[in-house]
Amino acid sequence: MRRAVCPGSFDPVTNGHLDIIGRTAPLFDEVVVAVMVNKSKKGMFTLEERMEMLTDAAAPHPNVRVDSFDGLLVDYCRTNEVRAIVKGIRAVSDFDYELQMAQMNHALTGVETLFMPTAPEFSFIASSLVKEVATYGGDVAHLLPAPVHRRLLERIAERA
Ligand code: PNS
Repeated sequence: MRRAVCPGSFDPVTNGHLDIIGRTAPLFDEVVVAVMVNKSKKGMFTLEERMEMLTDAAAPHPNVRVDSFDGLLVDYCRTNEVRAIVKGIRAVSDFDYELQMAQMNHALTGVETLFMPTAPEFSFIASSLVKEVATYGGDVAHLLPAPVHRRLLERIAERA
């Protein structure tokens, strides 16, 4: 089985993430969206919430499932027989760090990384920016799936 992984924090999933996931799905038998368990970084959403939102958003793609991972991505890939890591590239600024990680991951276990250019209409979207804009009252409805947008506004209201 040709299995790929789309890894990330997904705090929360955006339309930019979904663009990459949706375009990766037809290229592989199975795509695992792997949510990183980040113990040091306190996210806006819990791991369970992030996974729930992703599962909902990825539902139109029958060969996409959501999982989580702790530790090195290469270990997850080895254990789960993942052939390729797929990463979205929004701009040249993403490329430097992504290239370094891809080369490190390849040097560690030989796993390949494939870079997919983000569609231009999503190239400015980052979860961190979306959260910041929404926190100060900016309209980000068009940048997120509707249920994610609702939950983001609820979380901001809870925190206020
Ligand atoms: O959505 P993000 O925060 O940009 O995703 C980054 C992620 C999770 C893909 C990256 O930090 C990662 O792979 N972390 C797992 C730990 C790891 O393998 N580190 C070594 C990278 S060479």
